[in-house]
Amino acid sequence: MVSSEMAPWAKTGGLADVVAGLPAALTRLGHRVTVVLPKYRGLDPTDCRVTTGEVSLGAVQQQVQWHTREGADHVRTVFVDCPAMFDRAGYYGAGGQDFADNADRFGLLAVAALDFAEADGAAAPTVVHAHDWQSGLVPTLLRTQPRRWPRLSRAGLVFTIHNLAYQGRFSKDVVPRLALDWRVFTMEGGEFWNDFSYLKCGLAYSDYTTTVSPRYAVETLTPEFGYGFEGALQSLGERYLGILNGIDTTIWNPETDPLLPAHFSASDLAGKRECKRALLNQFYLPQGDDALARPVVAIVSRLVAQKGFDWIYEAADELMALDATWVVLGTGETKYEQMWQAMHDRHPSRVGVYFGFDEGRAHLAEAGADLFLMPSLFEPCGLNQMYSLRYGTVPVVHAVGGLDDTIRTYRPNARHANGFKFTNGSGAELAATMRQALRLFHNPVQWARLMSEGMADDHSWDQAAREYVRVYKRARRDARDLR
Ligand code: ADP
Ligand code: GLC
Repeated sequence: MVSSEMAPWAKTGGLADVVAGLPAALTRLGHRVTVVLPKYRGLDPTDCRVTTGEVSLGAVQQQVQWHTREGADHVRTVFVDCPAMFDRAGYYGAGGQDFADNADRFGLLAVAALDFAEADGAAAPTVVHAHDWQSGLVPTLLRTQPRRWPRLSRAGLVFTIHNLAYQGRFSKDVVPRLALDWRVFTMEGGEFWNDFSYLKCGLAYSDYTTTVSPRYAVETLTPEFGYGFEGALQSLGERYLGILNGIDTTIWNPETDPLLPAHFSASDLAGKRECKRALLNQFYLPQGDDALARPVVAIVSRLVAQKGFDWIYEAADELMALDATWVVLGTGETKYEQMWQAMHDRHPSRVGVYFGFDEGRAHLAEAGADLFLMPSLFEPCGLNQMYSLRYGTVPVVHAVGGLDDTIRTYRPNARHANGFKFTNGSGAELAATMRQALRLFHNPVQWARLMSEGMADDHSWDQAAREYVRVYKRARRDARDLR
């Protein structure tokens, strides 16, 4: 696998969790998996074997070290050490700006990964699985320059789209700069509105393209969610499908989570109240009996438009009039930080905010809250609603993508409901759904039923990993038939 993120090493969002959880699950099924990712600033893996070489892609020529490490879960991780490219203040950019040379940086990652696999002493990979635009050149190079990596020429190629909003879109100058064949700059290849898109490359040259929920796979075939890729995705036909992400149930387990002050389970929820108290404390909110009785609504999110903050802004007055306490953990765009900061300033005892990336607070928010709000405009999968379910925290979501696939909405007499969802996105609908959810919170019998339905859902990786194996096998067979 090739990816720009992998937990716990490098994480800005769900991609990192997936690229940790899926390989571990595949290993449990008896497969061998190697993950290649950049060695960013601050990453200091120990017990590595180090090899050195020169990596070249047109004008990009760099000395590289590969730091290889065997994980406790038997997944092999390879960190590509190239300080000129990856020893920087951010993964993709700094100060709100993408790095100007991202095409070079992730082009180099692709070649470094392929060179590693070619020279590797272990058996040749049977499948190469690339994630998101950052590894879109991996299938492209393998299909357009197969003689460079003969050991990989029979491998099946799988590409996974985690989010179509990030397209790795560059000027077409990249093509000669990286000495790519101009054949890649066609509608069937990586050309995208007269630019060059690494994401389009990824889906164009792979045997199979997947995305991270069945619902998003269908949505992305339409102009509303397809971001201009709907035509390319439609043309893949059966070679494009959705596989719902899993979650790592050893890390996200309320019975054992080391980041929690108390543990709990569906049959014994006492520890959840302890977590609620600790959560309020961590966000400098009152912790008296009144506060403990009042529902806590949590948000843990990248602060970007995708996550529905404009609807929250629209409905802010109505939402703040509800009898609830809010806990917000996130990093991202300044305007959304300012929005939440203003809400906190107006309601300091009912809105707690923390602007930063903090794993401990994320776990505590999932465990200590009563409700989890995720009103995304679109959501390829979403992991937080699944973590919430497991921690007995009832999700309130917009019915899109993976949110629609995982949440079964409450209706009077509905069986198996595990949360609330609204379908016609708007601030007014969001507020109405929150009002409905908070009303139900005060009905302990119904609420307990919602919580236990969610806690019983099984989103562990094993099922998803089996689905990936089926795709890998098909990709491998098709790749062989090509030759
Ligand atoms: P996305 O990948 O679009 O950001 P997901 O729901 O798939 O959305 O995954 C988000 C992941 O990032 C979750 O594991 C969530 O807990 C984590 N996360 C997001 N923001 C923060 C933060 N500020 N601090 C800690 N974890 C965060
Ligand atoms: C992306 C998506 C998110 C998904 C994650 C992991 O970041 O925004 O919905 O859960 O990737 O696949």
